[in-house]
Amino acid sequence: MSRKKIAAGNWKMNTQINEGIALAKYIADAERDKGVITILAVPFTHIYAIQKKIKSSSKVLLAAQNCHHKTSGAFTGEISPVMLAGMKVPYVILGHSERREYNYEDNALLALKLRAALNSGLKVIFCCGESLNIRKAGNHLHHVQLQLQESLFQIEVREMKHITIAYEPIWAIGTGETASPAQAQEMHEAIRAMLKQKYGKGVAEKTSILYGGSVKGNNAKSIFSQQDVDGGLVGGASLSGEEFVSIINSF
Ligand code: 13P
Repeated sequence: MSRKKIAAGNWKMNTQINEGIALAKYIADAERDKGVITILAVPFTHIYAIQKKIKSSSKVLLAAQNCHHKTSGAFTGEISPVMLAGMKVPYVILGHSERREYNYEDNALLALKLRAALNSGLKVIFCCGESLNIRKAGNHLHHVQLQLQESLFQIEVREMKHITIAYEPIWAIGTGETASPAQAQEMHEAIRAMLKQKYGKGVAEKTSILYGGSVKGNNAKSIFSQQDVDGGLVGGASLSGEEFVSIINSF
């Protein structure tokens, strides 16, 4: 079963608007493997301008980095999934460890966000992953299982086609330390088994599972070559056009 190969760049809270437009254009125009779904999770402030500047034929898709769990209302400073869908933003990232940590997003809230995003017609890149302490204690598989059970597994089997999972061990994010290909494969295989148990073999085999955590041009190949790794969610290295294109071309 061939799954979608995906390279997603998460720009986080980086780039001024002109830099963001230049970076998106560089990636859109670059010689790259068009068989790889290329997604840029850009700041909210950049979405409209980047949509105007890149050709749809370039097949670069945009993502938001978060959305609220309600569709509208008195939530100052928030962005609703309906607003994103109205702008034809196809994807939203939910459950990133930075939002779990700094914005206190827990599994229950993420279940609500998933529901709202799917109801609005967005596709979701759902992040999971353990801290260093949890890994050292040997509880990483259980921790990720709980993250899936309490959030993702609240959705219906028919909705799973709109889900991409990103496994991002927190100890590998922005640290320069990647999970070894074997560590990534172990977790991805375990996640696929959890999907199989919950939703059946078809869903398990079709759902793309991305690895995130210090993916770079020089290590992407060895990680992406693992059987259950279907691509990457890339932070720092996605801020360099050249580096990100070399990651896209690493499958
Ligand atoms: P780095 O690639 O900078 O480690 O970030 C990974 C990440 O958090 C992507 O969402």
